[in-house]
Order: sequence, then C-alpha cells, then structure tokens
Amino acid sequence: VIDIRKLYAQTGDFTYDPGFTSTASCRSALTYIDGDEGVLLHRGYAIGELAEQSSFMEVAYLLLRGELPTADELKTFSTTITRHTMVHEQLAAFFRGFRRDAHPMAIMCGVVGALSAFYHDSTDIHDPVQRTIASHRLIAKIPTIAAMAYKYSVGQPFLYPDNSLSYTGNFLRMTFGVPAEPYEVNPAVEKAMDRIFILHADHEQNASTSTVRLAGSSGANPFACIAAGIACLWGPAHGGANEAALNMLREIGTPERIPEYIARAKDKNDPFRLMGFGHRVYKNYDPRATVMQKTVREVFDALKVNDPLFETALRLEEIALNDEYFVEKKLFPNVDFYSGVILSAIGFPTSMFTVLFALARTVGWVAQWNEMITDPDQKIGRPRQLYTGPTQRPYVPVGQR
Ligand code: ACO
Repeated sequence: VIDIRKLYAQTGDFTYDPGFTSTASCRSALTYIDGDEGVLLHRGYAIGELAEQSSFMEVAYLLLRGELPTADELKTFSTTITRHTMVHEQLAAFFRGFRRDAHPMAIMCGVVGALSAFYHDSTDIHDPVQRTIASHRLIAKIPTIAAMAYKYSVGQPFLYPDNSLSYTGNFLRMTFGVPAEPYEVNPAVEKAMDRIFILHADHEQNASTSTVRLAGSSGANPFACIAAGIACLWGPAHGGANEAALNMLREIGTPERIPEYIARAKDKNDPFRLMGFGHRVYKNYDPRATVMQKTVREVFDALKVNDPLFETALRLEEIALNDEYFVEKKLFPNVDFYSGVILSAIGFPTSMFTVLFALARTVGWVAQWNEMITDPDQKIGRPRQLYTGPTQRPYVPVGQR
C-alpha cells in the first residue's frame, strides 16, 4: 500500500500556499502594486495621475498596448471600440430567458459566456487578428450588455448605443435614457463615472484576473474566460464588496451605531466584517479609495445631493483608523468603501454595483489574457494540492460495509 503523504514528503517539489499569498503565478508588465506604501501604477503611471488627467479609453489603450496613445491613436482606438458597441440582435432574446428579478450579475455571467456562441469568428486564440477583434468586441459590448441587464431588471426597453457619445456617456444613456425622451449626459457625472472605471480597470493578479488567466491557460476562448472572471468577481470578498459595503452603511444608518458594528467586526465569534475594509495586498490606504472619496464630493456637488450615508462612512473610517484592532491588522478602506455612495447618488441600484466593476475590469482582464497568450512561458495553470485524505485501502463491497 502506498502512503501518499509519505510520498509527498519524499518528493517535496511543491509549496503549500493556500490563497496564493506568496506565489507569483505569472509575470506581467501591466500593473505594479506596493501594498505597504499604497502605490498602484499602470505601466508605470500612478493611478492618481491617470484618474485625474486621463480617460478610461486612454487607460484601456495603455493597458492593452503598453504606452499612452497619441491624440491620433486615441481617436482611432475610440472609433474602433465605438464601432463594436452593438450586440447581436439575437442576444436580446437571450436576456428574455431570464427572470426579471434575476441578479444582474447572474445575467452578466450567462450573457457574456454566450458571446462565444455569437462571435465564434473571433475565438481562435492563436490568430493575433482574431485576438484583437475579440478584445475590442469585449471592451465595446460590455457596457451595452451591462445597460441591457439594468433595463431588463426595471422592465424598460433596451436602448441601442449612440456612437456620437463617449464610451462612458454612451453607457449612461443606454442605462438611464428612455426612448420617449431625449437624454442629456451630465458632464460631471460622465467624468466621475469615467474615473470610477479607471480606478477599476486592472489590479494585477486578484481573484477574478487569476480566474481569467487560469481559464485562458487551457486555451479557452476569450469570451468564456471573461465570463469566468465575472463569476469570480461576484463574490462579496471581491467585487461584490461594493454592494455589501453600501448595504452595511445603510444598515448602520447613523454615526451613533458605528461602535456597535466596530465591536462586531472585532468579535471573532461573529462572521461580520467591515465591508470595504482590508485588502490582501494593501497594508496601507488603498490609493483608489483616496480618489473615490474625493469623487463623492464632486458628484454630490454636481447633482446637488447630500447623502447622509457619506458622513456615516467618513465617521466609520475615522473610528476604525483610530482603533487598535484595525491599526494592528493594517485594515484600511479599499476601493469599494466609497464607490457605493457615489454610484447610488448617480442612480444605480446596489445590484448594479458589481456589474459596473465587471464593466471596467473587462479592460484589465482582456489585457491580462492577451499578455498571457503571448508569453512564451505560458503553460496550462495546474496548481498542486496537499492531499489530506485516507491512504490507499481495499474496496469493501456495499453489502459488507
Ligand atoms: N473587518 C474585520 N476584520 C477583518 C477585515 C474586515 N473587513 N478584513 C480582514 N480582517 C481581519 C481578519 O479577521 C483576520 O484576522 P485574524 O488574523 O485575527 O484571523 C485578519 O484581518 C486578516 O484577514 P484575512 O481574511 O486573513 O486577509 P485576506 O488577505 O485573506 O483578506 C479581504 C482580504 C478578503 C479583502 C478581507 O480584508 C475582507 O474580507 N474584507 C472585507 C471585504 C472587502 O472589502 N473586499 C474587497 C476587497 S478589494 C476588491 O476586491 C476590489
């Protein structure tokens, strides 16, 4: 009888690293994070500068192509993306197969996964031209699909894209516009939304990006890989945290109730965690949260609203950052902490928050997928395991057990 555990001990050729806390699964030139210093760079550019000065289309180009575009390159790229914003008409019928009360992320998983059935002329991963077309299709169609998921949930008709608008303006119109009335994109909201997309564009080997790479490593087509990423992103420990964070703030309600929730977050017998707090890599303030906090004020000013939940969030942050537990564990607000307050002010229901994250992250997923496919070291992802089950034993017929 072979003692499998003994065998492992003898071979000793792998590392047991649950959650991959110290294993680099790939090499990448896209994104750099210094979690101790709270630094995030895309191709060498600081996230704060990109969020302040560039546009989501520029960042998409940067991540995909490696350099910031010239004015002409940006125009050509934006036009190319714009030309792919329509989705196959048959896809609308696909939406109608879902219940109206389905979570939009459930719809996203299904519809994006179905794209390979509609665009199988761009699924040959060995053909660079097809890879480029698939990349453009995914980036261009995701806002259309996200807006359709929203429209379907509220029972309104789908709106075709209006390609005279910007990427983000077009998305806002497809989401909030109605056919009977003209829709004017609010420039401040458009800018804030574009910035939110920039903040979510890529974040190196997080769970959903690793999922996209792992799915892609087997040679699966890009549409299927992005659908896998969307499924992973949905979890409350990852992209679902923005929805969970706002729900938490609503539950807390007023600043007076914060200490009760802080106590719960510290209680090891209570599964409750402060949503939008803590990060696997950042052991300092998430630089995206800094931009997000500033953007809340801009959106409130533009829309002339003032959600008291923002005050609750600010107070919660202040209390947590002065609490020994959070200080010792280096738990700071992450990108999801303030995003819900902004998205809610713009008019999105909480169920759409993770959809918006998926929309923006599609750029990163697509760039990471392309990088992986063209990496000469690329292999099928196949982690090992530390077997903890029984050693080999004889089969006992059912009548004798
Ligand atoms: N509230 C209270 N305690 C926390 C929190 C939190 N939000 N986050 C971590 N901790 C505690 C843990 O209980 C643990 O304590 P212990 O050492 O006494 O057991 C310690 O801090 C370390 O936490 P881990 O879960 O081991 O850290 P990990 O790196 O695996 O998890 C994660 C990171 C998932 C983000 C975690 O901080 C968390 O659950 N946060 C809330 C959800 C959230 O905001 N997710 C969004 C992440 S950003 C993104 O995906 C875009």
